[in-house]
Amino acid sequence: MRALIIGCGGVASVAIRKCCQNSEVFSEIMIASRTKSKCDALKSRLEEIGTATKIATAEVNADDVSQLVALINEYNPQIVINLALPYQDLTIMDACLATGKHYLDTANYEPLDTAKFEYKWQWAYNERFAKAGLTAILGCGFDPGVTGVFSAYALKHHFDEIHYIDILDANGGDHGYPFATNFNPEINIREVTANGRYWQNGNWIETKPMEIKREYDFAQIGKKDMYLLYHEELESLAINIPGIKRIRFFMTFGQSYLTHLQCLQNVGMTAIEPIDFEGQKIVPLQFLKAVLPDPATLGPRTVGKTNIGCIFSGVKNGNPVNYYLYNVCDHQDCYKEVESQAISYTTGVPAMIGAMLLLNGTWQKPGVFNVEQFDPDPFMTALNKWGLPWHENFNPILVE
Ligand SMILES: NC(=O)c1ccc[n+]([C@@H]2O[C@H](COP(=O)([O-])OP(=O)(O)OC[C@H]3O[C@@H](n4cnc5c(N)ncnc54)[C@H](OP(=O)(O)O)[C@@H]3O)[C@@H](O)[C@H]2O)c1
Repeated sequence: MRALIIGCGGVASVAIRKCCQNSEVFSEIMIASRTKSKCDALKSRLEEIGTATKIATAEVNADDVSQLVALINEYNPQIVINLALPYQDLTIMDACLATGKHYLDTANYEPLDTAKFEYKWQWAYNERFAKAGLTAILGCGFDPGVTGVFSAYALKHHFDEIHYIDILDANGGDHGYPFATNFNPEINIREVTANGRYWQNGNWIETKPMEIKREYDFAQIGKKDMYLLYHEELESLAINIPGIKRIRFFMTFGQSYLTHLQCLQNVGMTAIEPIDFEGQKIVPLQFLKAVLPDPATLGPRTVGKTNIGCIFSGVKNGNPVNYYLYNVCDHQDCYKEVESQAISYTTGVPAMIGAMLLLNGTWQKPGVFNVEQFDPDPFMTALNKWGLPWHENFNPILVE
């Protein structure tokens, strides 16, 4: 099969390497991104290591539908895997519709000038994808992505009804820098400086950024402070998990990260409105991204583990059930395998798995879908096979 992968950053690099490990499915790939030299460097590295996948590269500006359409028509892939930034989701979906190709991404659309991510823009494509007989899979990284698969799996095998979901994302990794983000700094900072929000009894409850703090003792990591954030899978799970009463998302942050972020915010460096600087317009957050370490370079220096998972509470056969499903991923193990840290790894592996299931027909149906709308079992099996084994705890400590 032939896949076109757009983007060649941290997440894409892992997904591309995993596609190359899985060359029976991904016999040919094209890596296309804004900076072609990065695509060529990765292709050379993969050819040096040795892969049976035939790799092509191209330059594309994915903000431009006509460039995308020309490239897709020329390469003629079965699927377009979007691992660029959330700003490109709609142009790439438009190009898929124009050329009759399946689509997959890991993050929902966000307009460049408003830090507000919502599925509504992409869900609006459902009818057009359905009519064209094409599949679009949204949010197929870890969170969103595996968290939705975990929810569908828990519901299928362990609950009649899930009432509460707490998604816990812990990073016990240390890269040695006073401040750096583990994935695209612009996207990451937009996410964590926004107001928090969670779903309860049919309503969204809004909180101030970092207002709700809890401590949790994570398997293989230990105790960490975690903070309630809004995260995009809350929106789709609130709709797709029947009977749900509350969903929250917590992410761990160290004190040094928070202190730096507070300072950067206080001085205006996280702003997304352009300012005039020596005769040209610059966006402070984009400038900040340029001076921060590139997440793709954190791999060799990051030690420690991530632990991401979901705690479910509900009922089965009239009895109360609590169930925790999680994955633990070691930064250095990831680096040894794919020359990348665990944050990119935990996102890139599910993207490859989702694309594989779409291509082999297991996860193929006409329309636009979030991952929890598919059968979770083949994905869960593939997680164990492709480097993200999961663990179960039937007696977890609950988050207050
Ligand atoms: N679901 C999850 O669990 C999860 C977790 C982490 C990240 N993500 C998502 O994964 C995606 C990639 O993140 P990342 O950390 O890999 O980011 P990254 O390292 O900044 O990589 C982004 C890539 O997209 C390319 N790109 C940007 N704008 C483009 C355009 N207009 N046309 C073509 N290519 C363009 C960049 O090219 P240049 O090299 O020219 O900059 C770069 O190669 C983001 O959408 C992020 O939100 C999802």
